Amino acid sequence: MKTLAVLSRKGGAGKTTVSLSVALAARQAGLRVVVADVDPLHSAAEVMRTRPEASSMLFETTASKLFIVQDACRQNGCDLLVIDTPAAPDADVLRAANVADLCLAVARPTSLDVAAVRESITLIRRAGHPGLVVLNQCPPTRGGEESDVVVQALERLRFGHLPIASTKLRSRIAYQRAFAHNCAVTEWDPASEAAAEVLRLLAEISDQMTLAPAGPAPPREARSGPGPVHLMRAALKRLA
Ligand SMILES: Nc1ncnc2c1ncn2[C@@H]1O[C@H](COP(=O)(O)OP(=O)(O)OP(=O)(O)O)[C@@H](O)[C@H]1O
Ligand SMILES: [Mg+2]
Repeated sequence: MKTLAVLSRKGGAGKTTVSLSVALAARQAGLRVVVADVDPLHSAAEVMRTRPEASSMLFETTASKLFIVQDACRQNGCDLLVIDTPAAPDADVLRAANVADLCLAVARPTSLDVAAVRESITLIRRAGHPGLVVLNQCPPTRGGEESDVVVQALERLRFGHLPIASTKLRSRIAYQRAFAHNCAVTEWDPASEAAAEVLRLLAEISDQMTLAPAGPAPPREARSGPGPVHLMRAALKRLA
């Protein structure tokens, strides 16, 4: 089982949007996914609560209980635990980073978010776990050219010495529409550009922490076939 902590020290950067988009896309791809909502505002739960699978997929909890939640997930054959964190306090964000196999630091391409992401990077370093910066709410490209705000943010982020996801999530109304219908963009409109970028991000995350179904080991003679990561990639392609 792998644990992904989604964090940003800046409110509204897109932690909940990224957490749920990735978690629900991974579920569609066939992984057993649990979302731990440790934000006292419980925005992730607000989106998920009315879904039929919420009782098995959603933990509204606190950061101090993450070890227990993680253990329960492991015992129950979960493949991926996604933690949606609050912007503060530091101690809670650090608790999430401490149990994560990978931390996603979400930032909008603004100078204030980029400044805040440096704090997230410091925190991820303290936890000693790998991290990946994801730019969210980016303006659309024009004629294939990135907007200057994205170019500038990328330049400033390079000094953080944390890998930056090549997939950028654009500012799209589809994210808000999907949540209003208690689903992710990959469910709401699988053919949309929003769904495609979420699937690309999920593939990058999978590359970083080798996401795969935790099912029983295949029999020896089956091992020469495609591995679980390839199977997951094939599932992602089918959804794209
Ligand atoms: N890529 C996007 N395109 C359009 N709207 C977005 C996008 N990402 C986030 N939003 C919107 O921005 C707002 C804040 O996003 P979200 O709740 O995911 O941020 P957050 O970091 O979890 O906030 P908080 O710090 O309050 O937990 C929401 O209304 C959400 O729908
Ligand atoms: Mg949130």
